[in-house]
Amino acid sequence: MKATVWAGRNSVEVQSVPDPKILNDRDAIVRVTSTAICGSDLHIYDGYIPTVKHGDVLGHEFMGEVVEVGKAVQNLAAGDRVVVPFPIACGACSACERELYSLCENSNPNAGIVEKLMGHSPAGLFGYSHMMGGFAGGQAEYARVPFADVGPLKIDDDLSDDQVLFLSDILPTGYMGAEMCGIAPGDVVAVWGAGPVGLFSIISAYLLGASKVIAIDRVPYRLKLAEEKGAVAVNFEETSVLETLRDLTAGRGPDHCIDAVGLEARNGSTVVDAYDRVKQAARLETERPHALREAIMSCRNGGTISVVGVYGGLMDKFPIGAVMNRSLTIKTGQCHVQRYMKPLLKRIRDGEIDPPSIISHHLPLDEAPHGYEIFKHKQDNCTKVVLNP
Ligand SMILES: NC(=O)c1ccc[n+]([C@@H]2O[C@H](COP(=O)([O-])OP(=O)(O)OC[C@H]3O[C@@H](n4cnc5c(N)ncnc54)[C@H](O)[C@@H]3O)[C@@H](O)[C@H]2O)c1
Ligand SMILES: [Zn+2]
Ligand SMILES: [Zn+2]
Repeated sequence: MKATVWAGRNSVEVQSVPDPKILNDRDAIVRVTSTAICGSDLHIYDGYIPTVKHGDVLGHEFMGEVVEVGKAVQNLAAGDRVVVPFPIACGACSACERELYSLCENSNPNAGIVEKLMGHSPAGLFGYSHMMGGFAGGQAEYARVPFADVGPLKIDDDLSDDQVLFLSDILPTGYMGAEMCGIAPGDVVAVWGAGPVGLFSIISAYLLGASKVIAIDRVPYRLKLAEEKGAVAVNFEETSVLETLRDLTAGRGPDHCIDAVGLEARNGSTVVDAYDRVKQAARLETERPHALREAIMSCRNGGTISVVGVYGGLMDKFPIGAVMNRSLTIKTGQCHVQRYMKPLLKRIRDGEIDPPSIISHHLPLDEAPHGYEIFKHKQDNCTKVVLNP
């Protein structure tokens, strides 16, 4: 089959690889009909995620048709249409019982690698490095789905792929970013990053009762999309974010701040930003913390910092003094997607969320390399690329 594989820094290729096979009784094989490129894939593309190897099949946002199931999968049959959540979860361990699916204790066969870096291991993820399990991803013609009796959500034929594909990741992730804020009616929420995840956080924050959502980015067409979703747009290249947020909130700062940027945030021009640039270039610091630091400094006293942007390692000059003395709460996590799929499917059906509105490009699988380039460099007004194998 054809699949998108990592071919080194800033390079992916569509290559022929062996077809996936059922390895365990709880596996299914899915013929992929739609799959998307995520900001998280860019961290791999750009070479920031350790333990990705040449030839690894990428992609964790995918859906399609079940073509084969293992003996223990009773709830799915060949021919079913499913969306697959990106964290792989067994459904029965202590984390899964608490609906913390991205922390499943049974799905990462390489837990030992990540324990050395992070203390404990999170769940295995599709197409997201060997330390996260080494599972082949879904930017391919077919994918093997472990624990298929737990994760995949069946989809009725009257909904299109474009309406439901993002239930695999970015819609639940944006929603969880807003939910973690514990928004009270009337609260003001600021969202760093107007990419796909940030846009879904904006939509979700309003659904959860925010009176005003402020979007921070530098890319004009993305800020325009954020405005169309009802946000007040702030271009961080044109104005001081801290001052603007103060002005918009009677001097107090937003009640909640969502980081939907992650480890590749664009730096500012302060001395600390210059320090980060030098340390990251020398690989002495793995993250660029600009957006997260700004979110912490901007937030009102007693507010919430919700971090859905992905971080992978260590950062310097983390303003713990501001967090502690100003009683800020930090919440974060890879999304527990399985928890949100059904309720968000209902919101799509009810017309409260319109996922296709954030898609800018449909490309055949063969054009994945072009898709990565335009998504990374924000060319051709690229917001979200859907690949159709
Ligand atoms: N927690 C999860 O489960 C989960 C799931 C999916 C994606 N993510 C992460 O969410 C983040 C966003 O994903 P995406 O697909 O929207 O990616 P994206 O790269 O399309 O969007 C990121 C946006 O942040 C903007 N940005 C860069 N520096 C900034 C700064 N200093 N201040 C404000 N904005 C800045 C960029 O211009 C861009 O528009 C990524 O880190 C991704 O890995 C997390
Ligand atoms: Zn993703
Ligand atoms: Zn589990």
